[in-house]
Amino acid sequence: MTDARPIGVFDSGVGGLTVARALMEHLPNESLIYIGDTARFPYGPKPVEEIRHHGMQIADELIGRDVKMLVVACNSVEVSAIDHIAARHGVPVIGVVEPGARASARVTRSGRIGMIGTEATVRSGAYDRAVAETGADVTLASAACPVFVNHVEAGDTGSDELRRAARRYLEPLMEADIDTLILGCTHYPLLSELLQEELGTGVVLVSSAEETADDVAARLLAEELAVAGGPPSHRFLTTGRADTFDGLAATFLGTEQATVRAEHLDLPEVPWS
Ligand code: DGL
Repeated sequence: MTDARPIGVFDSGVGGLTVARALMEHLPNESLIYIGDTARFPYGPKPVEEIRHHGMQIADELIGRDVKMLVVACNSVEVSAIDHIAARHGVPVIGVVEPGARASARVTRSGRIGMIGTEATVRSGAYDRAVAETGADVTLASAACPVFVNHVEAGDTGSDELRRAARRYLEPLMEADIDTLILGCTHYPLLSELLQEELGTGVVLVSSAEETADDVAARLLAEELAVAGGPPSHRFLTTGRADTFDGLAATFLGTEQATVRAEHLDLPEVPWS
């Protein structure tokens, strides 16, 4: 059996586009509907209940648009809500935490892994559990990097201010002598160059995007949900300004996908507490 319905992908902003890009590369015939909740960005500093509310609201919106699968391309939503989302809908729900943890356990030589993410992600301990579940003999040192996402969402991936923040955040991880760093936030692959410069070539950066795309591909096959052929048709929705989203999307998706024309999406304001 085949299924031509799109895959729903979402994030608090443009960060999840790093995952969308990997999906487009690995599964070139599959169509995507992407929602970036730019109006309520950032999620990372918010209470878990609020992040859960927003994540579930967007998942509902995507299900209402008849997606065949949900890809939670936001660590902060995943650690706050993936079980709730999966319990509510009958479609497969794929996250980014387990793929990232799995890749890091494969890559490390010393067994000393670092992880950087939002406050919500670090606080949840989800990566500690996911790394432990790989069964590998590894330790994990984590650091929250609150200001990173604001820089990335503003299009800044290399300013002096950002570099100073990176030095501060990475210091304890360097002291822990890590040889592998999980980018535990979907915005961070855009900072790879700067992070690699700061960490040196002895530390391997692990992004979940590619590994997540592999999981999506495997699940589509296993559930007989893959599309029969192309061409795909992608839609990008943002709760913020569509023109700002388009500009950033070019950076996140790479030059081939530079012609994104996002649509504005109004989500009803529902109190979360
Ligand atoms: N991209 C989101 C993540 O992976 C974080 C951005 C935010 O704080 O909203 O956690």
